[in-house]
Amino acid sequence: MPSPPLTKNQIDGIKLCKRDPVAFARTILREDLWTKQREILSSLVAHRRVAVKACHASGKTFVAAAAVLWWLAANEDGIAITTAPTWTQVKKILWGEIRATAQRATGFFPDPNVVSLQISPNRYALGLATNQGVNFQGFHGKVLIVMDEAPGIEGDIWEAIEGIRAGGDVRVLALGNPVVGSGSFFDVFTSGRSGWHPMTISAWDTPNLAGLTLEALLALGEDHLDRNPRPYLTTRRWVKEKYLEWGPNHPLWESRVLGNFPKQAADALISLAWCEAASKREIELSGPEVAGLDIAGPGEDETVLCIRKGGQITKMKAWSTADSRGEVLAELRLHPNLEILNGDTNGIGYNFLLHLADKGIPVCHVNVGKTPRDQQKFANLKAELYWGLRMKMEAGEVGGLTDDVAIGQLAGIRYKIRSDGKTQIETKDEARARGVKSPDRAEAVMLAFAELGPPRNVSIESLTKESAFGRMSA
Ligand SMILES: Nc1ncnc2c1ncn2[C@@H]1O[C@H](COP(=O)(O)OP(=O)(O)O)[C@@H](O)[C@H]1O
Ligand SMILES: [Mg+2]
Repeated sequence: MPSPPLTKNQIDGIKLCKRDPVAFARTILREDLWTKQREILSSLVAHRRVAVKACHASGKTFVAAAAVLWWLAANEDGIAITTAPTWTQVKKILWGEIRATAQRATGFFPDPNVVSLQISPNRYALGLATNQGVNFQGFHGKVLIVMDEAPGIEGDIWEAIEGIRAGGDVRVLALGNPVVGSGSFFDVFTSGRSGWHPMTISAWDTPNLAGLTLEALLALGEDHLDRNPRPYLTTRRWVKEKYLEWGPNHPLWESRVLGNFPKQAADALISLAWCEAASKREIELSGPEVAGLDIAGPGEDETVLCIRKGGQITKMKAWSTADSRGEVLAELRLHPNLEILNGDTNGIGYNFLLHLADKGIPVCHVNVGKTPRDQQKFANLKAELYWGLRMKMEAGEVGGLTDDVAIGQLAGIRYKIRSDGKTQIETKDEARARGVKSPDRAEAVMLAFAELGPPRNVSIESLTKESAFGRMSA
């Protein structure tokens, strides 16, 4: 739809704002940007390529939308191309912000469509999916390319964008949460740095946490945790919760909170990059349905159920109630074809599993403290099963791992090779000493993927036999 003719004031306004995107955002888009958002817009004037690695909810997408509209207003033949790893991110998230921003600048822009906004045939903004790589060719002139969630954008798209940059005045704005310590976005901050203006935003920079130290944040009372000057950005409560959940040396603390690429410990069992990949991957549903159940006693952490079909995790549920047997059973009843449920039989788990077996659930008692099948290599069954999960994650055989808490826990597990050459997983006490909570969700995933030989229903009789997997006689 063509835009209504601009008034003289608007034309003057545009001229004024051409070199000053911050003024444009304030006066025409009516935005109240925070410092780093203003810095991002300003750097698009001075630099051809700007890359922003930033913490969770720092206003990246919001400022990207402002940049797109500024580019259209400032350039008579301006084209803005926007992309992100998934179509939902393009259409709902990035374009959700662009549509809302355009509408806020009342009467200034024509009504946007779902993923496009056209002022004239040579002046428009467009959202593209990254699986349309070829579509990135053929834009010439004054082009702004916005890559939201840039770490998830594949290398061939980065290459196609390099192709567009070959001619004309082309700017690139790449933004994202630096969750993966490899790939094109990572290169921009390391080996491929030249030609880029790199920026970092930590949660401690945001208005909600500015001026606070970690100690001060941890000491804040309940009511102060919700006093955030800009509650839509990363909040005090969120940062505190994540500190308690992940601890200071966790790769997710590095990336989601500090805005740094994850420095994963050399002794991390499972890389965050594999978890990220498993969170995006969808594996065709085939093969048996298998569940893993980690059982918490009253006052302990969570009882967690993880169900997979083949390599795809189809369900992840957690309960913090004192006795969750009823809830777990109700959930399992929704899966009549479940082939086996691998349950942690330690402590309270034993009776819990007996109860489920009584109700007809095909239960396998797993005691991870027991002897592994490969005694040369592993200190105990826990190490063997976690190692099995590691191999599957590395090989790309796990999909549907979308639970952020589970990802955080998996990426936080450490292992060591003992002097006798056997692999051992850090004990719960060692983990606690590092300030890490009990990784219940990781355990449930590990149990769901546990390879314990032929599935079987463990009867009371067999429990009296010494077995790596069954509980020993009481
Ligand atoms: N300057 C701002 N003024 C008003 N709302 C904002 C501002 N910056 C961000 N927001 C809002 O805050 C939320 C988080 O911002 P978003 O851009 O999605 O963060 P990120 O992309 O870094 O995760 C969104 O709802 C967004 O609309
Ligand atoms: Mg975003």
